[in-house]
Amino acid sequence: MHPPSTSAPRVHQADFRFRCIGCGELSDAAGQDFRCSRCGDLLEITYPKWKEAKLSAENLKSAWFQRRLSLSPVDLSGVWRFRDLLPALEPAPGSMRDDSQQVITLREGNTPLYELPQCAAITGVPRLFAKHQGTNPTGSFKDCGMTVAATFARRAGFRWVACASTGNTSASMAAYAARGGMRSLVLVPEGKISWSKLSQALDYGAVTCQLRTDFDGCLRLLQELVRRAPVYQLNSINPFRIEGQKTLALELLEQLDWQPPDHIIVPGGNLGNSSAIGKALLEMRELGLIARLPKLSVIQAEGANALVRTLRETGGKRLVSVQAETRATAIRIGNPASWKKAVHVLEATGGACEQVSEVEIAQAKAEIGAEGIGCEPASAVTLAGLKKLVKQNFVKPEESVVLVLTGNLLKDPDFTIDFHRGELFKGSADESAGARLAPLRRAPIVMDAALDAVMRVLEQAEKS
Ligand code: F0G
Repeated sequence: MHPPSTSAPRVHQADFRFRCIGCGELSDAAGQDFRCSRCGDLLEITYPKWKEAKLSAENLKSAWFQRRLSLSPVDLSGVWRFRDLLPALEPAPGSMRDDSQQVITLREGNTPLYELPQCAAITGVPRLFAKHQGTNPTGSFKDCGMTVAATFARRAGFRWVACASTGNTSASMAAYAARGGMRSLVLVPEGKISWSKLSQALDYGAVTCQLRTDFDGCLRLLQELVRRAPVYQLNSINPFRIEGQKTLALELLEQLDWQPPDHIIVPGGNLGNSSAIGKALLEMRELGLIARLPKLSVIQAEGANALVRTLRETGGKRLVSVQAETRATAIRIGNPASWKKAVHVLEATGGACEQVSEVEIAQAKAEIGAEGIGCEPASAVTLAGLKKLVKQNFVKPEESVVLVLTGNLLKDPDFTIDFHRGELFKGSADESAGARLAPLRRAPIVMDAALDAVMRVLEQAEKS
Protein backbone atom coordinates (compact mmCIF):
# COMPACT_ATOMS: atom_id res chain seq x y z
CA MET A 1 0.00 0.00 0.00
CA HIS A 2 1.12 3.52 -0.77
CA PRO A 3 0.24 6.59 1.23
CA PRO A 4 -2.10 8.92 -0.61
CA SER A 5 -0.57 11.48 -2.92
CA THR A 6 -0.02 14.88 -1.43
CA SER A 7 -1.91 17.22 -3.73
CA ALA A 8 -1.91 20.67 -2.21
CA PRO A 9 -5.22 22.47 -1.84
CA ARG A 10 -6.48 24.66 -4.67
CA VAL A 11 -4.42 22.79 -7.24
CA HIS A 12 -6.36 20.57 -9.60
CA GLN A 13 -5.45 18.66 -12.67
CA ALA A 14 -6.39 20.44 -15.80
CA ASP A 15 -9.43 19.96 -18.01
CA PHE A 16 -8.24 20.10 -21.55
CA ARG A 17 -9.32 20.49 -25.16
CA PHE A 18 -7.62 19.96 -28.49
CA ARG A 19 -6.73 23.00 -30.57
CA CYS A 20 -5.60 22.98 -34.18
CA ILE A 21 -2.28 24.78 -34.57
CA GLY A 22 -3.33 25.91 -38.05
CA CYS A 23 -6.92 27.19 -37.91
CA GLY A 24 -7.38 27.31 -34.13
CA GLU A 25 -10.47 25.05 -34.17
CA LEU A 26 -11.20 23.68 -30.69
CA SER A 27 -12.53 20.16 -30.13
CA ASP A 28 -13.16 17.76 -27.27
CA ALA A 29 -12.00 14.66 -29.10
CA ALA A 30 -9.22 13.85 -31.54
CA GLY A 31 -9.26 11.40 -34.43
CA GLN A 32 -6.76 8.58 -34.80
CA ASP A 33 -4.40 10.72 -36.85
CA PHE A 34 -4.42 13.59 -34.32
CA ARG A 35 -5.10 16.07 -37.11
CA CYS A 36 -7.69 18.80 -37.41
CA SER A 37 -10.87 17.53 -39.06
CA ARG A 38 -11.27 20.93 -40.76
CA CYS A 39 -7.83 21.79 -42.12
CA GLY A 40 -5.65 18.74 -41.47
CA ASP A 41 -3.02 20.49 -39.36
CA LEU A 42 -1.63 19.06 -36.11
CA LEU A 43 -3.49 19.33 -32.82
CA GLU A 44 -2.17 20.55 -29.51
CA ILE A 45 -3.64 20.31 -26.04
CA THR A 46 -4.91 23.47 -24.44
CA TYR A 47 -6.33 24.25 -21.00
CA PRO A 48 -9.13 26.81 -21.31
CA LYS A 49 -9.93 26.76 -17.60
CA TRP A 50 -6.48 27.90 -16.43
CA LYS A 51 -7.49 31.54 -16.66
CA GLU A 52 -10.65 31.29 -14.57
CA ALA A 53 -8.99 28.84 -12.12
CA LYS A 54 -6.44 31.57 -11.37
CA LEU A 55 -3.68 29.04 -10.69
CA SER A 56 -1.22 30.46 -8.24
CA ALA A 57 2.43 30.05 -9.18
CA GLU A 58 3.39 29.82 -5.52
CA ASN A 59 0.80 27.09 -4.83
CA LEU A 60 2.00 25.11 -7.81
CA LYS A 61 5.65 25.36 -6.84
CA SER A 62 4.98 24.31 -3.27
CA ALA A 63 2.68 21.44 -4.34
CA TRP A 64 5.39 20.11 -6.65
CA PHE A 65 7.99 20.45 -3.94
CA GLN A 66 5.83 18.75 -1.29
CA ARG A 67 5.16 15.80 -3.55
CA ARG A 68 8.85 14.93 -3.42
CA LEU A 69 8.20 13.64 0.10
CA SER A 70 5.42 11.33 -1.05
CA LEU A 71 5.82 7.65 -1.85
CA SER A 72 2.85 7.50 -4.18
CA PRO A 73 3.78 6.28 -7.70
CA VAL A 74 2.32 9.42 -9.30
CA ASP A 75 4.49 11.60 -7.10
CA LEU A 76 7.61 9.48 -7.58
CA SER A 77 7.24 10.04 -11.32
CA GLY A 78 9.09 13.16 -12.40
CA VAL A 79 6.32 13.67 -14.94
CA TRP A 80 3.12 13.16 -12.94
CA ARG A 81 4.52 15.19 -10.06
CA PHE A 82 3.70 18.15 -12.33
CA ARG A 83 0.23 16.78 -13.19
CA ASP A 84 -1.47 20.11 -12.53
CA LEU A 85 -0.20 21.21 -15.95
CA LEU A 86 -1.07 17.90 -17.64
CA PRO A 87 -4.36 16.59 -19.06
CA ALA A 88 -6.69 15.52 -16.26
CA LEU A 89 -7.13 11.85 -15.57
CA GLU A 90 -10.77 11.71 -14.62
CA PRO A 91 -11.69 8.15 -13.63
CA ALA A 92 -12.77 6.28 -16.75
CA PRO A 93 -16.56 5.71 -16.82
CA GLY A 94 -17.45 2.85 -14.49
CA SER A 95 -13.88 2.57 -13.21
CA MET A 96 -13.13 2.41 -9.52
CA ARG A 97 -9.46 3.23 -10.06
CA ASP A 98 -8.08 6.46 -8.73
CA ASP A 99 -5.45 8.55 -10.52
CA SER A 100 -2.45 6.73 -9.20
CA GLN A 101 -3.69 3.33 -10.35
CA GLN A 102 -4.50 4.59 -13.83
CA VAL A 103 -1.03 5.88 -14.53
CA ILE A 104 1.51 3.68 -16.34
CA THR A 105 4.78 4.81 -14.83
CA LEU A 106 8.38 3.58 -14.65
CA ARG A 107 9.45 6.51 -12.40
CA GLU A 108 10.45 8.52 -15.45
CA GLY A 109 11.83 12.04 -15.25
CA ASN A 110 13.76 13.05 -12.12
CA THR A 111 16.78 13.48 -14.38
CA PRO A 112 19.97 15.20 -13.20
CA LEU A 113 21.24 18.61 -14.13
CA TYR A 114 25.02 18.38 -14.39
CA GLU A 115 27.68 21.06 -14.61
CA LEU A 116 30.04 20.60 -17.56
CA PRO A 117 33.30 22.23 -16.46
CA GLN A 118 35.48 20.89 -19.28
CA CYS A 119 32.99 21.72 -22.00
CA ALA A 120 32.57 25.13 -20.37
CA ALA A 121 36.31 25.71 -20.80
CA ILE A 122 36.19 24.49 -24.40
CA THR A 123 33.28 26.76 -25.36
CA GLY A 124 34.22 29.75 -23.19
CA VAL A 125 30.79 29.69 -21.49
CA PRO A 126 31.44 29.14 -17.76
CA ARG A 127 27.81 28.58 -16.76
CA LEU A 128 27.18 25.48 -18.86
CA PHE A 129 24.86 22.65 -17.76
CA ALA A 130 23.50 19.42 -19.16
CA LYS A 131 19.96 18.21 -18.43
CA HIS A 132 20.54 14.50 -18.93
CA GLN A 133 17.38 12.82 -20.18
CA GLY A 134 19.44 9.71 -20.88
CA THR A 135 19.00 8.65 -17.26
CA ASN A 136 15.31 7.90 -17.89
CA PRO A 137 14.17 4.27 -17.44
CA THR A 138 14.65 3.27 -21.08
CA GLY A 139 17.57 5.65 -21.58
CA SER A 140 15.98 8.55 -23.44
CA PHE A 141 13.70 11.58 -23.07
CA LYS A 142 10.90 9.67 -24.76
CA ASP A 143 9.80 8.12 -21.46
CA CYS A 144 8.48 11.46 -20.19
CA GLY A 145 6.03 11.72 -23.06
CA MET A 146 5.30 8.03 -23.19
CA THR A 147 4.03 7.72 -19.62
CA VAL A 148 1.30 10.25 -20.43
CA ALA A 149 0.39 9.03 -23.92
CA ALA A 150 0.44 5.33 -22.97
CA THR A 151 -1.76 6.08 -19.98
CA PHE A 152 -4.32 7.81 -22.19
CA ALA A 153 -4.11 4.99 -24.74
CA ARG A 154 -5.05 2.44 -22.09
CA ARG A 155 -7.72 4.70 -20.69
CA ALA A 156 -9.28 4.93 -24.15
CA GLY A 157 -9.44 1.14 -24.18
CA PHE A 158 -6.82 0.42 -26.86
CA ARG A 159 -5.29 -3.04 -26.98
CA TRP A 160 -2.59 -2.08 -29.47
CA VAL A 161 -0.23 0.90 -29.63
CA ALA A 162 2.13 1.61 -32.51
CA CYS A 163 4.89 3.96 -33.60
CA ALA A 164 7.39 4.68 -36.33
CA SER A 165 10.81 5.27 -34.84
CA THR A 166 14.52 5.86 -35.22
CA GLY A 167 14.84 3.64 -32.14
CA ASN A 168 14.22 5.51 -28.92
CA THR A 169 10.48 6.01 -29.29
CA SER A 170 10.07 2.32 -30.05
CA ALA A 171 12.12 1.27 -27.02
CA SER A 172 10.11 3.55 -24.78
CA MET A 173 6.73 2.67 -26.25
CA ALA A 174 7.42 -1.06 -25.99
CA ALA A 175 8.33 -0.70 -22.31
CA TYR A 176 5.29 1.36 -21.35
CA ALA A 177 2.94 -0.83 -23.37
CA ALA A 178 4.31 -3.89 -21.59
CA ARG A 179 3.88 -2.26 -18.20
CA GLY A 180 0.37 -1.21 -19.11
CA GLY A 181 -0.71 -4.62 -20.40
CA MET A 182 -0.98 -3.48 -24.04
CA ARG A 183 0.52 -4.95 -27.20
CA SER A 184 2.89 -2.80 -29.26
CA LEU A 185 3.79 -2.60 -32.94
CA VAL A 186 7.08 -1.00 -33.96
CA LEU A 187 7.97 0.25 -37.46
CA VAL A 188 11.68 1.02 -37.85
CA PRO A 189 13.91 1.64 -40.87
CA GLU A 190 15.84 -1.53 -41.63
CA GLY A 191 19.55 -1.23 -40.84
CA LYS A 192 19.30 2.40 -39.79
CA ILE A 193 18.75 2.18 -36.06
CA SER A 194 21.18 1.09 -33.41
CA TRP A 195 21.15 -2.53 -32.24
CA SER A 196 20.90 -1.39 -28.71
CA LYS A 197 17.55 0.37 -29.29
CA LEU A 198 16.25 -2.49 -31.41
CA SER A 199 17.15 -4.97 -28.69
CA GLN A 200 15.11 -2.99 -26.17
CA ALA A 201 11.96 -3.18 -28.30
CA LEU A 202 12.46 -6.93 -28.74
CA ASP A 203 13.01 -7.57 -25.06
CA TYR A 204 9.99 -5.50 -24.01
CA GLY A 205 7.89 -7.71 -26.26
CA ALA A 206 7.04 -5.46 -29.21
CA VAL A 207 6.10 -6.85 -32.61
CA THR A 208 8.95 -5.25 -34.54
CA CYS A 209 8.88 -4.61 -38.29
CA GLN A 210 12.14 -3.52 -39.92
CA LEU A 211 10.85 -1.77 -43.03
CA ARG A 212 12.98 -1.30 -46.14
CA THR A 213 12.61 2.47 -46.07
CA ASP A 214 13.70 5.41 -43.93
CA PHE A 215 12.02 6.89 -40.83
CA ASP A 216 9.88 9.18 -42.96
CA GLY A 217 8.63 6.15 -44.91
CA CYS A 218 7.81 4.34 -41.65
CA LEU A 219 5.84 7.34 -40.37
CA ARG A 220 3.88 7.64 -43.63
CA LEU A 221 2.92 3.99 -43.40
CA LEU A 222 1.87 4.36 -39.77
CA GLN A 223 -0.45 7.25 -40.68
CA GLU A 224 -2.22 4.95 -43.12
CA LEU A 225 -2.27 2.06 -40.68
CA VAL A 226 -4.04 3.98 -37.89
CA ARG A 227 -6.87 4.79 -40.29
CA ARG A 228 -7.36 1.10 -41.05
CA ALA A 229 -6.68 -0.70 -37.78
CA PRO A 230 -7.65 -0.03 -34.15
CA VAL A 231 -4.13 0.87 -33.04
CA TYR A 232 -3.26 3.98 -31.10
CA GLN A 233 -0.31 5.90 -32.46
CA LEU A 234 2.34 6.98 -30.01
CA ASN A 235 4.54 9.18 -32.21
CA SER A 236 5.04 12.77 -31.12
CA ILE A 237 2.20 13.77 -33.45
CA ASN A 238 0.19 12.49 -30.49
CA PRO A 239 -0.27 15.63 -28.36
CA PHE A 240 -0.28 13.65 -25.10
CA ARG A 241 3.39 12.86 -25.79
CA ILE A 242 4.14 16.57 -26.04
CA GLU A 243 2.39 17.26 -22.73
CA GLY A 244 4.54 14.69 -20.92
CA GLN A 245 7.73 15.96 -22.50
CA LYS A 246 6.88 19.46 -21.26
CA THR A 247 7.82 18.36 -17.76
CA LEU A 248 11.51 18.30 -18.76
CA ALA A 249 11.37 22.10 -18.71
CA LEU A 250 9.32 22.29 -15.50
CA GLU A 251 11.78 20.04 -13.70
CA LEU A 252 14.72 21.99 -15.12
CA LEU A 253 13.35 25.30 -13.90
CA GLU A 254 12.64 23.82 -10.48
CA GLN A 255 16.27 22.62 -10.35
CA LEU A 256 17.35 26.18 -11.16
CA ASP A 257 15.11 27.57 -8.40
CA TRP A 258 12.88 29.10 -11.10
CA GLN A 259 15.65 31.35 -12.42
CA PRO A 260 15.50 30.84 -16.19
CA PRO A 261 18.78 30.13 -17.98
CA ASP A 262 19.57 32.43 -20.90
CA HIS A 263 19.64 29.56 -23.39
CA ILE A 264 18.29 26.03 -23.74
CA ILE A 265 19.71 24.02 -26.64
CA VAL A 266 18.03 20.89 -27.94
CA PRO A 267 18.58 18.49 -30.86
CA GLY A 268 15.97 18.57 -33.61
CA GLY A 269 14.66 15.48 -35.43
CA ASN A 270 10.90 15.10 -35.80
CA LEU A 271 10.75 18.31 -33.69
CA GLY A 272 8.40 17.06 -30.98
CA ASN A 273 10.79 17.71 -28.13
CA SER A 274 11.63 21.29 -29.06
CA SER A 275 7.89 21.93 -29.47
CA ALA A 276 7.23 20.45 -26.02
CA ILE A 277 9.96 22.40 -24.24
CA GLY A 278 8.85 25.61 -25.97
CA LYS A 279 5.21 25.01 -25.01
CA ALA A 280 6.25 24.49 -21.40
CA LEU A 281 8.27 27.72 -21.36
CA LEU A 282 5.38 29.73 -22.78
CA GLU A 283 2.93 28.18 -20.31
CA MET A 284 5.29 28.78 -17.40
CA ARG A 285 5.49 32.44 -18.31
CA GLU A 286 1.72 32.67 -18.74
CA LEU A 287 1.21 31.19 -15.26
CA GLY A 288 3.80 33.43 -13.64
CA LEU A 289 6.14 30.55 -12.80
CA ILE A 290 8.97 32.36 -14.59
CA ALA A 291 9.34 36.02 -15.39
CA ARG A 292 11.23 35.74 -18.67
CA LEU A 293 11.76 33.21 -21.44
CA PRO A 294 15.04 31.45 -22.13
CA LYS A 295 15.97 31.38 -25.80
CA LEU A 296 15.27 27.88 -27.10
CA SER A 297 17.61 26.87 -29.94
CA VAL A 298 17.36 23.78 -32.12
CA ILE A 299 20.39 22.03 -33.63
CA GLN A 300 20.26 19.54 -36.49
CA ALA A 301 22.77 17.37 -38.29
CA GLU A 302 23.84 18.89 -41.63
CA GLY A 303 22.58 15.77 -43.37
CA ALA A 304 19.13 16.03 -41.79
CA ASN A 305 18.61 19.77 -41.78
CA ALA A 306 14.98 20.22 -42.80
CA LEU A 307 14.22 22.87 -40.17
CA VAL A 308 17.41 24.82 -40.88
CA ARG A 309 16.51 24.96 -44.57
CA THR A 310 12.84 25.67 -43.87
CA LEU A 311 13.81 28.76 -41.89
CA ARG A 312 16.56 29.92 -44.24
CA GLU A 313 14.78 29.31 -47.51
CA THR A 314 11.12 30.03 -46.70
CA GLY A 315 11.31 32.07 -43.47
CA GLY A 316 9.49 29.20 -41.74
CA LYS A 317 6.47 29.40 -44.05
CA ARG A 318 6.78 26.10 -45.91
CA LEU A 319 8.54 22.84 -45.01
CA VAL A 320 11.65 22.03 -47.03
CA SER A 321 11.99 18.24 -46.81
CA VAL A 322 15.38 16.60 -47.27
CA GLN A 323 16.70 13.12 -47.94
CA ALA A 324 18.19 12.55 -44.50
CA GLU A 325 21.63 11.02 -43.92
CA THR A 326 23.64 11.08 -40.69
CA ARG A 327 25.42 8.68 -38.35
CA ALA A 328 23.38 10.30 -35.57
CA THR A 329 20.60 7.89 -36.55
CA ALA A 330 18.16 9.13 -33.88
CA ILE A 331 17.73 12.36 -35.86
CA ARG A 332 17.97 10.88 -39.36
CA ILE A 333 14.65 12.48 -40.31
CA GLY A 334 13.96 14.48 -43.46
CA ASN A 335 10.31 15.40 -43.13
CA PRO A 336 9.74 16.48 -39.53
CA ALA A 337 6.09 16.22 -38.50
CA SER A 338 6.12 18.99 -35.88
CA TRP A 339 8.02 21.59 -37.93
CA LYS A 340 5.30 24.23 -37.56
CA LYS A 341 5.21 23.88 -33.80
CA ALA A 342 9.01 24.19 -33.71
CA VAL A 343 9.00 27.31 -35.90
CA HIS A 344 6.46 28.82 -33.51
CA VAL A 345 8.51 28.20 -30.36
CA LEU A 346 11.74 29.39 -32.00
CA GLU A 347 10.02 32.64 -32.93
CA ALA A 348 8.30 33.01 -29.56
CA THR A 349 11.50 32.51 -27.54
CA GLY A 350 13.92 34.18 -29.97
CA GLY A 351 16.00 31.01 -30.36
CA ALA A 352 18.35 30.07 -33.19
CA CYS A 353 18.46 27.08 -35.51
CA GLU A 354 21.84 25.69 -36.61
CA GLN A 355 23.34 22.66 -38.26
CA VAL A 356 26.52 20.76 -37.43
CA SER A 357 28.72 18.36 -39.38
CA GLU A 358 29.35 14.67 -38.69
CA VAL A 359 32.88 15.44 -37.48
CA GLU A 360 31.61 18.19 -35.18
CA ILE A 361 29.07 15.75 -33.72
CA ALA A 362 31.72 13.09 -33.09
CA GLN A 363 34.03 15.59 -31.43
CA ALA A 364 31.30 16.99 -29.18
CA LYS A 365 30.19 13.49 -28.21
CA ALA A 366 33.73 12.58 -27.13
CA GLU A 367 34.02 15.82 -25.16
CA ILE A 368 30.76 15.11 -23.30
CA GLY A 369 31.98 11.56 -22.68
CA ALA A 370 35.21 12.89 -21.20
CA GLU A 371 33.12 14.70 -18.56
CA GLY A 372 32.16 11.27 -17.20
CA ILE A 373 28.64 11.70 -18.49
CA GLY A 374 28.36 10.61 -22.11
CA CYS A 375 25.41 10.68 -24.45
CA GLU A 376 24.34 9.30 -27.79
CA PRO A 377 25.41 11.06 -31.01
CA ALA A 378 22.13 12.92 -31.58
CA SER A 379 22.42 14.54 -28.14
CA ALA A 380 25.94 15.77 -28.87
CA VAL A 381 24.69 18.12 -31.59
CA THR A 382 23.79 20.46 -28.72
CA LEU A 383 27.42 21.04 -27.70
CA ALA A 384 28.56 21.22 -31.32
CA GLY A 385 25.80 23.75 -31.99
CA LEU A 386 26.70 25.79 -28.92
CA LYS A 387 30.23 26.24 -30.28
CA LYS A 388 28.73 27.74 -33.44
CA LEU A 389 26.32 29.97 -31.54
CA VAL A 390 29.19 31.30 -29.42
CA LYS A 391 31.21 32.06 -32.58
CA GLN A 392 28.21 33.93 -33.99
CA ASN A 393 27.98 35.85 -30.68
CA PHE A 394 24.38 34.62 -30.33
CA VAL A 395 25.44 33.04 -27.02
CA LYS A 396 27.58 35.38 -24.94
CA PRO A 397 30.23 34.17 -22.48
CA GLU A 398 28.44 35.61 -19.44
CA GLU A 399 25.17 33.84 -20.27
CA SER A 400 23.96 30.56 -18.81
CA VAL A 401 23.28 27.63 -21.11
CA VAL A 402 21.52 24.29 -20.64
CA LEU A 403 22.14 21.51 -23.17
CA VAL A 404 19.39 18.89 -23.33
CA LEU A 405 21.12 15.51 -23.63
CA THR A 406 18.35 13.35 -25.04
CA GLY A 407 19.81 9.85 -24.93
CA ASN A 408 22.18 7.64 -22.97
CA LEU A 409 25.73 6.82 -24.08
CA LEU A 410 24.85 3.10 -24.22
CA LYS A 411 22.16 3.70 -26.84
CA ASP A 412 24.65 3.55 -29.70
CA PRO A 413 27.79 1.58 -28.77
CA ASP A 414 28.75 0.99 -32.42
CA PHE A 415 29.25 4.71 -32.99
CA THR A 416 31.37 5.07 -29.87
CA ILE A 417 33.54 2.05 -30.56
CA ASP A 418 34.03 2.99 -34.23
CA PHE A 419 35.05 6.46 -33.10
CA HIS A 420 37.61 5.30 -30.56
CA ARG A 421 39.03 2.70 -32.93
CA GLY A 422 39.40 5.40 -35.58
CA GLU A 423 36.97 3.69 -37.93
CA LEU A 424 34.06 6.12 -37.85
CA PHE A 425 35.10 8.17 -40.86
CA LYS A 426 37.28 5.61 -42.69
CA GLY A 427 36.62 5.68 -46.41
CA SER A 428 34.24 8.63 -46.15
CA ALA A 429 34.60 12.22 -47.35
CA ASP A 430 35.23 13.18 -43.70
CA GLU A 431 38.29 10.94 -43.34
CA SER A 432 40.93 13.67 -43.09
CA ALA A 433 38.79 15.99 -40.95
CA GLY A 434 37.99 13.02 -38.71
CA ALA A 435 41.68 12.20 -38.35
CA ARG A 436 42.17 15.47 -36.48
CA LEU A 437 40.07 14.05 -33.64
CA ALA A 438 42.78 11.45 -32.86
CA PRO A 439 43.74 13.07 -29.52
CA LEU A 440 40.21 12.39 -28.24
CA ARG A 441 40.34 8.70 -29.11
CA ARG A 442 40.93 5.98 -26.52
CA ALA A 443 41.16 2.77 -28.51
CA PRO A 444 41.16 -0.48 -26.53
CA ILE A 445 44.57 -2.17 -26.45
CA VAL A 446 44.63 -5.89 -27.19
CA MET A 447 47.66 -7.48 -25.51
CA ASP A 448 49.08 -10.44 -23.63
CA ALA A 449 48.10 -10.88 -19.99
CA ALA A 450 51.56 -9.82 -18.77
CA LEU A 451 52.20 -7.45 -15.87
CA ASP A 452 55.18 -5.74 -17.56
CA ALA A 453 53.16 -4.99 -20.65
CA VAL A 454 50.34 -3.41 -18.62
CA MET A 455 52.94 -1.37 -16.65
CA ARG A 456 54.35 -0.07 -19.94
CA VAL A 457 50.87 0.97 -21.10
CA LEU A 458 50.37 2.82 -17.83
CA GLU A 459 53.70 4.67 -18.19
CA GLN A 460 52.94 5.62 -21.78
CA ALA A 461 49.48 6.87 -20.86
CA GLU A 462 50.94 8.98 -18.06
CA LYS A 463 53.20 10.73 -20.59
CA SER A 464 50.49 11.45 -23.15
N1 F0G B 1 17.69 12.86 -29.61
C1 F0G B 1 17.39 11.56 -29.57
C2 F0G B 1 18.28 10.66 -28.79
C3 F0G B 1 16.25 11.06 -30.25
O1 F0G B 1 15.97 9.77 -30.19
C4 F0G B 1 15.46 11.95 -30.99
C5 F0G B 1 14.28 11.47 -31.73
C6 F0G B 1 15.80 13.30 -30.98
C7 F0G B 1 16.92 13.72 -30.29
C8 F0G B 1 15.00 14.31 -31.71
O2 F0G B 1 13.83 14.61 -31.02
O3 F0G B 1 12.23 14.03 -32.82
O4 F0G B 1 11.51 15.27 -30.79
O5 F0G B 1 12.97 16.37 -32.50
N2 F0G B 1 13.97 10.26 -31.86
C9 F0G B 1 12.70 9.78 -32.43
C10 F0G B 1 12.57 8.28 -32.28
C11 F0G B 1 12.32 10.32 -33.72
O6 F0G B 1 11.86 7.64 -33.06
O7 F0G B 1 13.16 7.74 -31.35
P1 F0G B 1 12.56 15.10 -31.82
